[in-house]
Amino acid sequence: MATAGPGRSEGRLRVHGYNLYWRSVGDGGARGTVLMLHGGPGMCHDYLLPFEDLASAGYRVLFYDQLGCGRSERAQDPGEYSIDRDVEDLEELRRTLDLGPVHLIGSSYGGLLAIAYALAHAEGMRSLVSVSGLADVPLAVREMARLVRALPAPAARAIADGEARGQYDSPAYCAAVGQFYRRHLCRLDPWPAEVTYTLEHVSVPKYGRMNGPNEFTIVGTIRDWTVTDRLGEIRVPTLVTVGKYDEVTPVVAGSIHRGIPGSELRLFPESSHLAFWEERSRYFDVLRDFLDRQGPSGRSR
Ligand code: ALA
Repeated sequence: MATAGPGRSEGRLRVHGYNLYWRSVGDGGARGTVLMLHGGPGMCHDYLLPFEDLASAGYRVLFYDQLGCGRSERAQDPGEYSIDRDVEDLEELRRTLDLGPVHLIGSSYGGLLAIAYALAHAEGMRSLVSVSGLADVPLAVREMARLVRALPAPAARAIADGEARGQYDSPAYCAAVGQFYRRHLCRLDPWPAEVTYTLEHVSVPKYGRMNGPNEFTIVGTIRDWTVTDRLGEIRVPTLVTVGKYDEVTPVVAGSIHRGIPGSELRLFPESSHLAFWEERSRYFDVLRDFLDRQGPSGRSR
């Protein structure tokens, strides 16, 4: 393990045959561990940087890059990339690092992963936070199609055209994707460097296989995934957050909130998909309030 400054450490852990990169901030003595799940599938943890703020509130914040992503190893066979694999890697990492039950916070696909994990390993978590997450990919796709149709006509046309031809790299199509992202992915101008870095370092083999060519064209292996009818099984305290202009829309967040008994829903009125950047200080007030209500960790580390 390499030390990366006071209260900071990083390392690589062998998980199911591959080295996964992790990074930890804060000691979590008082309040326990927050485990962060990035989106994509295929992004990296870098854009989740604002969650480091939880370290100054007494939490240990553990980030990692999922298999095939960021500083973690690529799978030899893209067929190894799957939701089930990501769930089991997460469980193995949690156990091997001896984190105990964690507050699991997942952004976007990370939210999907947190929900899938809760259905498989509820004992491994103290709470769940779905940050613009999804539990029903077909619903999310229908909602994104609605947002695409509502773009200015030339952009909507360029996207419809590109999709009809299966051509996702024409200049007009790429410009329209950029317009969609500035409305529904991150509304800050300019984007934070960590967000740009993350998008520039997407794992093409994983994103392409599981997601698709871009955020709203989900034609990869996760396209039919839905657990809406199982959400009632989730009994851990849950917070669902979403931006008003989110690409994973408030309709999607509402369906998760209705499905998980006792869950709380918070909408951020000036945000799209990255409310933790777009309304950073308000976001962390809401998040800390939720986490602090779960009480101290009961574990000394
Ligand atoms: N592609 C979406 C994300 O994880 C679902 O950001």
